This record gives sequence, C-alpha cells and structure tokens, in this order.
Amino acid sequence: MRYLVTGGAGFIGSNTVDELVSRGHSVVVLDDLSSGKEDHLAEIRNKITFIKGSVTDIEVVRKAMHEAEYVLHLAARTSVPRSVKDPIETNRINVDGTLNVLVAAKEMKVKRVVLAASSSAYGETPTLPKAETMQPQPISPYGVTKYVGELYGQAFGRCYGLENVALRYFNIFGPRQDPSSPYSGVLAKFCAAFLEETQPVVFGDGEQTRDFTFVDNAVLANLLACEAPNVSGRVFNVGTGGRVSPNQVLLTLARITGKTLEAKYDPPREGDIRDSQADISRAREFLGYRPQVGFEEGLTLTFEWYRSTQAKTQAKSET
Ligand code: NAD
Ligand code: UD1
Repeated sequence: MRYLVTGGAGFIGSNTVDELVSRGHSVVVLDDLSSGKEDHLAEIRNKITFIKGSVTDIEVVRKAMHEAEYVLHLAARTSVPRSVKDPIETNRINVDGTLNVLVAAKEMKVKRVVLAASSSAYGETPTLPKAETMQPQPISPYGVTKYVGELYGQAFGRCYGLENVALRYFNIFGPRQDPSSPYSGVLAKFCAAFLEETQPVVFGDGEQTRDFTFVDNAVLANLLACEAPNVSGRVFNVGTGGRVSPNQVLLTLARITGKTLEAKYDPPREGDIRDSQADISRAREFLGYRPQVGFEEGLTLTFEWYRSTQAKTQAKSET
C-alpha cells in the first residue's frame, strides 16, 4: 500500500513510518522539519520518499499525495502553551494545513485519511474517563484547532464521500520525543532532567493527571485506523485507560534511575486542563485496539533510549 505521512519526521510520525516500512508499505513523508528531524528517518531513508515542505502550501501537499492510498495526517504545531501565545500561527498550521490535506485527498481520491486529533478536545468536561460520546469543550486554541480538524474530516466524509478517521491521542510519550524545547512534552523534559541532573519544573501542584501513553500504542492505533472496516467519520480515543500525575512520574523516574531530584513548582500554565483519562472501549470494539505497553514499562524504555542516545552523542563528539 502507498502511504503519505505528514509530520513523518516528528516523534509519533517517524515511529509510524518505521512500522509502515517494516510491513513493506511504500511511504512518502511530508514534513517542514520545524520540530521534526530528518535524522529520525536516517535508518530507512533509502526506503522512503522525503519531501521537505509545509502542509500550508496546497501545491506541495498535492505533489506529496500523488498516488497515495492512505494519508496519516500528523503535521501540526503541538504545544498547548504555544497556542495560547500564538493562536494565529497554530490555527494556520493546524486548521488551514488540515483543510489542504483534506482537499488534496478528495481530489486524489485517497482511500482514507487518518487525522491526529487530541484529547485536548475534551477540555474541562468533568467526567472521567473521557468517552467519545461527551460533548467536546476545548479550552485552549490548540484544542480548538484539533477539534476543528475532526469536524472538517467528518464534513468531507458527508460532502465528498472522503473516508476519514480521527484519533484522539492521549499524551503520547517515548523514543524521539524532543526534550529540548520549552514547549516539549513533560515526560521528555523530565527524562532529560534525570539524565542531566537538572531540576524538573512542575506547573501547578503536580497533582493534575494525564493518560500517558507509550508511542507504540499510538503507532498500532494508526495502522488499525487505516485498515478497520466501517469506521469512517468516527472519532476514537487512543490512550491506556489510566492516569498519572507529574508528581507520580517523578517518583517513578526516581525508582527507574535510582536518583531523587527535587522539583521546582511554578504556577499552573494557562490553557492546561486538570485531568485526562481515556475510555478506550470504542477503539477496542471498532479498531481492535489494545494497548501493548503500559506506563511504567514505556517510561523505562523511554529513559533507556534517552540515555543511550546521549551516550552515542557524547562518544561522537569525543572522536
Ligand atoms: P512532533 O512535533 O514531533 O511532530 C509534528 C511534526 O509535524 C514535526 O515533524 C514537524 O516538523 C511537522 N510539522 C509541523 N508543522 C508543519 C507544517 N506546517 N508542514 C509540514 N510539517 C509540519 O509532535 P508529535 O507529538 O509527534 O505530534 C504528532 C501529531 O499528534 C500532531 O498532530 C499532534 O497535534 C498530535 N498529538 C500529539 C500528542 C502527543 O502527546 N504527542 C497528543 C495528541 C495529539
Ligand atoms: C500534550 C501534547 C499535545 C496533545 C495533548 C493531549 C505535547 C507537547 N503536547 O499536551 O500535543 O494534544 O497532550 O494528549 O506533546 N508540565 C509540567 N512540567 C513541564 C511540562 C509540563 O509540570 O516541564 C505539566 C503541564 O502543565 C501539564 C502536564 O504536565 O499539566 C502535561 O503537559 P504537556 O506534556 O505539555 O502535555 P499537554 O499540555 O497535556
């Protein structure tokens, strides 16, 4: 099968591309490398087509989509606080970019588009766990853009018959998540703090919770969402069903590494939701999705990956 993966040089994207290639599929990656890295694709570089370009340019999107059967649309600006700071640019990339992908997919008559949606669509709905039957109430510009992407996908299904599935990922973490930006995900930053023995920063009291989900589970869901029958127009939670607080993450990392770091507590971030936990029964039923790797196992694998990557970088700089 021929796949286009937008954002395929990013964290979830490159892990997904690896799996597609290992299953023998043909893959085109479209990525502007704004947060992704070509290095993530180094090992499979001669097996894929890489196009450096932006989803905000419809001509580039059309070119990348030529002959694609499935499109996994992951390119986005992913940070909640960054969207609070700059909602216009987040909207341009996440909403206009998604619209371009859908328009090109309709024109090229692709079999299905899978959209990277987000648990941030739920916002502050009080009930836990979050089920897809709840009315979304996003509270950050980022959450709004991700929800709009879902609605556009569904509208394209109704108006043009374009098959589409939206996956609401819940806090994905794992190898290749960038720890270096102020907007990076918390687990990447905490792993870096434990490696470098710097002080982790917790926003708020650290008792907020997230359904931290190891990346292999998201990759599995991506592939299932392309293949499952009779799911077009549907939205699925992709999580584990658990929830863990930043304070618990720090305790778990202390156990994994044998180190204890004292955190610095800063005020809560604007646009942050308090708690998040996925009800994954719909994904189980319709996609056959079962999380393969739990939180603690995933965190151990992730920390080991950062540690070995740091060791390799150090060895390189010494030669
Ligand atoms: P990431 O930043 O590693 O990946 C995003 C990729 O998109 C990067 O490679 C980046 O260079 C690329 N990109 C950004 N703007 C682009 C543009 N205009 N044109 C082309 N490429 C562009 O982040 P990620 O965590 O891998 O996120 C992937 C997707 O999953 C995003 O859509 C994000 O909103 C969604 N998501 C992620 C999480 C999570 O916890 N990581 C949770 C919910 C949803
Ligand atoms: C993350 C994703 C977002 C996704 C959403 C829903 C990133 C950068 N963000 O957002 O794309 O749609 O999950 O699944 O991947 N925190 C700290 N210290 C830090 C950083 C964060 O305490 O150094 C706290 C935050 O205030 C927040 C929690 O940890 O309460 C999680 O933050 P973060 O990792 O940025 O993820 P989300 O904002 O949940």
